[in-house]
Amino acid sequence: MTTATPTRISRLRCIHCGHIADRADQDFRCPNCHDLFEVFFPGWQTSQGLRAHGHTAAELKSLWLERRARLEPESTSGVWRFRELLPALNDGHHPITLREGNTPLYDLPRCAQIARIEHLQAKHQGMNPTASFKDTGMTTAASFARQEGFRWVACASTGNTSASMAAYAARGGMRSLVLIPEGKISWGKLSQALDYGAVTCQLRTDFDGCMRILNEVVRRMPVYLLNSVNPYRLEGQKTAAIELLEQLNWQPPDHLIVPGGNLGNSSALGKALLEMKDLGLISRLPKLSVIQAAGANPFYRSFHEHHGRELVPMQADTLATAIRIGNPASWKKALKVVQATEGTVEQVGEVEIALAKAEIGSDGVGCEPASAVTLAGLKKLVRSGFVKGHESVVLILTGHVLKDPEFTLKFHRGDLFTGTAHEKEASLLAQQQRAPLVLDATVDAVVQTLKQLDS
Ligand code: F0G
Repeated sequence: MTTATPTRISRLRCIHCGHIADRADQDFRCPNCHDLFEVFFPGWQTSQGLRAHGHTAAELKSLWLERRARLEPESTSGVWRFRELLPALNDGHHPITLREGNTPLYDLPRCAQIARIEHLQAKHQGMNPTASFKDTGMTTAASFARQEGFRWVACASTGNTSASMAAYAARGGMRSLVLIPEGKISWGKLSQALDYGAVTCQLRTDFDGCMRILNEVVRRMPVYLLNSVNPYRLEGQKTAAIELLEQLNWQPPDHLIVPGGNLGNSSALGKALLEMKDLGLISRLPKLSVIQAAGANPFYRSFHEHHGRELVPMQADTLATAIRIGNPASWKKALKVVQATEGTVEQVGEVEIALAKAEIGSDGVGCEPASAVTLAGLKKLVRSGFVKGHESVVLILTGHVLKDPEFTLKFHRGDLFTGTAHEKEASLLAQQQRAPLVLDATVDAVVQTLKQLDS
């Protein structure tokens, strides 16, 4: 990367007490009040107002477009292409990149019809190198880990963070330690971490238990924490919103809808929206709304029952294992951006999630269960009148459909909810189920089937 000129210098600021630092401790917590840090950019202040790296909004837009024609890794990465809005690496340090970002924005005509709105699009962050949105934050945070000289990086995860971290650690020549809840992550994600060479520990606890243990481990061992309490992760994840606005020719949608687990992603996207508004890149803010699974809904409850004043941790349970989180670390950051953009928080049930996932599949797009909460939530927000039929909506799909094939197969075979409290309600799903047909190996059998289906 190029030299960190004064305007690009970023610092860390505690979101609670405002303490300012240039380096965080191993746990990325404020030494005074133990709350989280965020990155801020004092260098953006100029006599002509806020300018990232001295550029006007128009200059930034054309600079980022020009980079799309370039071939070096810092420009082909859909994260580092927006580096004026990111903390800079020191001279002589290069990003660890797998050419993350650059994800498609799809129209979802069938889902729009189902949700009863005119314009629905999805930004598919599952189209990243390790098939989830985590890569956009991992390229930045892993690069800072390497710059700081760490040999080991670590995370607690419901699966996607670990897959992403393991890949970026491997690319960057570092070793990685993964703590995951035993039996509660999909095989696809677990197998990725193994293939990318992580030391993978399945702990007999949930995600929140893994997080508690890892927080102790990083205090005792020289291991760099790559969970989203690490503010450099969120900086990279911001770029999904910047790229989205570029794809929309800088015309903000009315609503942006995001799944909520540990709440790092909603915080990051919201931070990007606020920064883009401050810098004059956009003229108004989309409403950012967060959707949680009803079985893992501490943020929903905090928002509606406690006006966001406190968050009561809970024992989480949902088949959308990616968001099976009861004590989300970044809830205060997420609260701030939901309030600042006048969004809301919604919850959706297990059957609603399964149905929405199949509906996203029926548009030829597909996603993993946690991503499907966005469509399920949108349907509720339309019914409640929070989203109007004529308003434009973008869903953030966070993970690829192949992340959790077991969920999809069980869904189509009709046994996803067998033996659970949702069994009766699940009869709603029959219309969307397409179990494989087992036929005799004859032309007649296939032709007969086609005729039946076509009639
Ligand atoms: N969607 C997917 C596919 C995820 O993997 C996650 C989080 C989320 C949504 C929620 O994002 O935590 O930023 O609110 N997965 C983490 C992990 C926790 O370990 O992979 P969030």
